[in-house]
Amino acid sequence: MLIKNAKLLDGRIVNIKFNEKIECIGECFSDDNEVIDANRKLVIPPYFNMHFHLDSVFLQVKNESGTLWEGIRIWKDIKGKLTEDDVIHRSLTAVKLMVAYGTLWIRTHADITEKSLKLLKALLKVKELAKEIAEIQVTAFPQDGIFTDKGNDELLYKGLELGADNIGMIPHNELTREDGVRSIEFAFNLAKEFNKDIDGHIDETDDPNSRFLEVVAKYSLQYGWQGRVAAGHVTAMHSWDSAYRNRILPIVASAGITVVPNPLINAVLQGRFDGYPKRRGMAPIKEMLKYGVNVALGHDCIMDPWYPLGSGNMLQVLFMAIHLDQMTGYEELVNSINLITYNSAKAWRAEYGIHVGKRANLLITNADDVIDLLRFMDPPLYVIKDGKVIAKEGKYVFFNGKWEEVKRKP
Ligand code: FE2
Repeated sequence: MLIKNAKLLDGRIVNIKFNEKIECIGECFSDDNEVIDANRKLVIPPYFNMHFHLDSVFLQVKNESGTLWEGIRIWKDIKGKLTEDDVIHRSLTAVKLMVAYGTLWIRTHADITEKSLKLLKALLKVKELAKEIAEIQVTAFPQDGIFTDKGNDELLYKGLELGADNIGMIPHNELTREDGVRSIEFAFNLAKEFNKDIDGHIDETDDPNSRFLEVVAKYSLQYGWQGRVAAGHVTAMHSWDSAYRNRILPIVASAGITVVPNPLINAVLQGRFDGYPKRRGMAPIKEMLKYGVNVALGHDCIMDPWYPLGSGNMLQVLFMAIHLDQMTGYEELVNSINLITYNSAKAWRAEYGIHVGKRANLLITNADDVIDLLRFMDPPLYVIKDGKVIAKEGKYVFFNGKWEEVKRKP
């Protein structure tokens, strides 16, 4: 297959020839009839969604206050009643939507404090069912805490035995600071035993005294887990004192932790105890990048107990991040695309990028450049995975051997 007149991120106009792998970039010619003219529009590698909750996606419940706490109450009520089939159906709808918007890598949490572990089992099936169109990692996530309820630690262990990809934790949700620290140590010991990456919810609060990221950094260094740890949200960082950020961020960078803000939900769930001016609570991306911290983004939720909106488009997530952290300097804006592409690939340790010999994973957009991509947030015209077109125009996805229309909700 050949894409002609592709504009790369560095501005070059090239032809790209590929089968499963990219074979030629530059003056390449097709030896078959499969040619797509990109018309000098931007061709980029696909997006990552580094933090998501497929088990709660599309529940479309009414959270009257819009707060985190009501969301937690609703979820606690509902999760035991969900069926595996329902979780699979909602999740697959979401995965297809995300794929149609150009995301090929999705890291989802599965709440393992639902004691039958049906949520995890369902998402492990979704991972398998969707593997032709997306790469999914499932994190065993102790939503209610590891030590808040007897047996949650065993459920986390069992989740890993069942085949979860990553180990989750939520230290700020444990009953005490000491339990929070203990939960981090527990997660790292599991990581060592099962040789897995860590993917935690860390310091998701406005409380400036919530400082579990430093503990995560300590264990990452101590256990030699650099490059294998993601810290989701870290919204408390927004409220930390500058002097503390100045001390801790270089350590976080040297510990090889990827911090994953979730701008859409951070903007609406944080600052709820504030009058005006009101904090928006997203971890400060520009500052983290300045200190050399790897930063990637997550969509977190679509139409679930915590967030009533969401389209599955990672450009919308990036758009929100840019606004909240005022990343509108020219270079900042152009380089911001790394937050949903290259930085995530680094955390995922994925084979990535448009280079000869690499997997042919490509998006053909209708944008002239990153700025136009962000202005209009259009879905890609073509999504190509391992050399095959798997989605078109945000409307159609190739699934189980045939083209089907993409649904915006189940
Ligand atoms: Fe989350």
